[in-house]
Amino acid sequence: MARPEAPAREGPEPPKGPATADTRPRGAPAGPALELGRRYTTADLGVFTTEEASRFLPQGSGDPQNDLILAWELLYRLEPELYDRLAGAERLHPGIVGWLPCDVDRIAEVGAGTGRLTMELIGRGQHVVAVEPARPMRLILERKLAAADHGHRARVVHGFFDQLPLPDDSADLVVACSAFTPAAGHGGETGLAEMERVCRPGGCVAILWPNHLGWLAARGYTYVSFPGPMSVEFGSYADAVELAEVFFPRAAGEVRRLGRRMVPFEVLGINPPRDLAFKVLAG
Ligand SMILES: C[S@@+](CC[C@H](N)C(=O)[O-])C[C@H]1O[C@@H](n2cnc3c(N)ncnc32)[C@H](O)[C@@H]1O
Repeated sequence: MARPEAPAREGPEPPKGPATADTRPRGAPAGPALELGRRYTTADLGVFTTEEASRFLPQGSGDPQNDLILAWELLYRLEPELYDRLAGAERLHPGIVGWLPCDVDRIAEVGAGTGRLTMELIGRGQHVVAVEPARPMRLILERKLAAADHGHRARVVHGFFDQLPLPDDSADLVVACSAFTPAAGHGGETGLAEMERVCRPGGCVAILWPNHLGWLAARGYTYVSFPGPMSVEFGSYADAVELAEVFFPRAAGEVRRLGRRMVPFEVLGINPPRDLAFKVLAG
């Protein structure tokens, strides 16, 4: 979303702990990292291609300091490794991965990013197409696939939800993880219709870590959620502090106070990636 859904996932403000030197455990970074909402300026908008600008700047301009969704899109292009560190820490509930069919021929994923889900899909499908518009994200994903068992099963291609570069009925499973929203620039009616066009009759379209459940339910999607406590698994305590300062600034004080690398999702104020909405197309 952008990680377009991210702002909508924000819950009530978590309790704020003091971010002073006195409370900072050893290993925490010294200075605060610049939060996502202040990280980029209008001067960065030039990174968008014409195609990207038509979706993310439909009025012709925008300000990432007033539009978090736009800031996410800039992140994907300007600091994709930073996004990858976050996505690596926000691991999907094992129930989601287990729910996916484990032996299908053709899978299409849209908004694949740096491959949080793609790297699971190559163990489940013989032929995976990962559609991703942001070139810097594609490069990271291609690098990961080149080093992975079964990496050759995936092909990474440029494309957008509303114009998928894939034939009708060409996949048994069509998925998007933390990428689809009802907004036109990030899916919308056209994007959902495109995912269903690409899916064969009797195949399954699945939106992982969905927002806007009512919108999907009204279009025939069934909701599934997997229970249990979930934490964001940062690489280290220093990573937890740095990434919280960028992505969850309201929770950064509490992350410092906790002094651990594992931080419950509720502390960060976001819903855990424990759910999905799916539809089996008429056969
Ligand atoms: C939050 S990231 C999720 C990436 C990955 N699926 C994951 O789970 O980490 C959202 C992704 O959707 C992509 N995206 C944004 N707008 C899109 C569009 N209109 N069509 C397809 N993908 C889009 C972004 O480039 C980004 O890679």
